[in-house]
Amino acid sequence: MERETRIDGVRLVLARQHDVVGRWIGQHEVLRQLLACWLVVNEADLPLTPRLIGSPGIGKTALVMAASQMRKQPLFIYQCTADTRPEDLLVTPVLGEQGRLEYHASPLVTAMITGGVCLLDEGNRMNEKSWASLAPLLDQRRYIESIVAGITVQAHPDFRCAVTMNQDESTFEIPDYILSRLQPSLHLGFPSRDDEKQILEYHLPFAAAELVGMTVDFLQSSHELRLDFSPRDGINILRYAMKRMAQDPDHPLSHDAVWRESVQACLGDEALDLEAQQEKRARRLGMQAVSMGLEDLLFDLDDPLRDIEGDDDDSSYGDDADDDDDDDSTY
Ligand SMILES: Nc1ncnc2c1ncn2[C@@H]1O[C@H](COP(=O)(O)OP(=O)(O)OP(=O)(O)O)[C@@H](O)[C@H]1O
Ligand SMILES: [Mg+2]
Repeated sequence: MERETRIDGVRLVLARQHDVVGRWIGQHEVLRQLLACWLVVNEADLPLTPRLIGSPGIGKTALVMAASQMRKQPLFIYQCTADTRPEDLLVTPVLGEQGRLEYHASPLVTAMITGGVCLLDEGNRMNEKSWASLAPLLDQRRYIESIVAGITVQAHPDFRCAVTMNQDESTFEIPDYILSRLQPSLHLGFPSRDDEKQILEYHLPFAAAELVGMTVDFLQSSHELRLDFSPRDGINILRYAMKRMAQDPDHPLSHDAVWRESVQACLGDEALDLEAQQEKRARRLGMQAVSMGLEDLLFDLDDPLRDIEGDDDDSSYGDDADDDDDDDSTY
């Protein structure tokens, strides 16, 4: 791909695309939902920019990688942070050779120009000012204005975007007018037992079967208890355990000892006692129950018993509390 282009006479250096490797295993429905958002079904239609919601390490980034790969489009990833400024997100001035000013297009603007996919990763970490600069891009106008470079960039018809968000404390309140441009919300759940095993085997084909089995059992029990241990945690546990085993091939540690050590090292001493973890979580959620509503604690998000009264109060907490058309995924 050409690494530079001109817009309104301004030379822009383009960002590098992300080398996508990786398969999406299981949860086909959410993959189809994402692909549907990006379809254009009529001349008057426009693609949607969905929010992908789920706990850390559950596969949000992997899902977008897989979807862009299926659409055979280059992928650009912008990692949003608390101090992302609008110019970081759009066009940054950089001092080039011989003291000349160069303009560097962000991964987002590069995707807009080249007709790629942009993943705004961890969007909930970004402040309102930066989000505001994306408002025209995320509605029917599909353009951005770079004040720094003095240009307007119109998105290529093939440009697609998605935003990942996870639910932890280090997040900003995203304003409603932005949330209303980031629809629909697609929720990622934890993988089934078979899928989780396949995910671990896919990423660590060299891992001992017994260790894979123990890790799958551990993760599945933690999902049942609605603890937030993820496939990424499983991958890290297995990876560390395999390294510890490889260290001393003449006096191999027992699988069980290595695995327990690895769980403790990756997730902390308490992780091996899942029930105690669950109690701790229940206590923490209990504190929030007053504002949340008891059904959030008792039922899964998609449980028909949840919200059976049909009340429409905003019972959630966190950053999409005011969103109107989703179920405020916080759990
Ligand atoms: N369904 C899946 N198929 C294949 N790999 C998966 C799947 N789900 C998770 N993974 C793997 O698990 C790891 C964590 O996934 P990923 O980085 O996409 O999580 P995330 O939700 O984006 O996390 P974060 O919120 O921290 O950014 C990656 O190595 C990813 O490839
Ligand atoms: Mg991610």
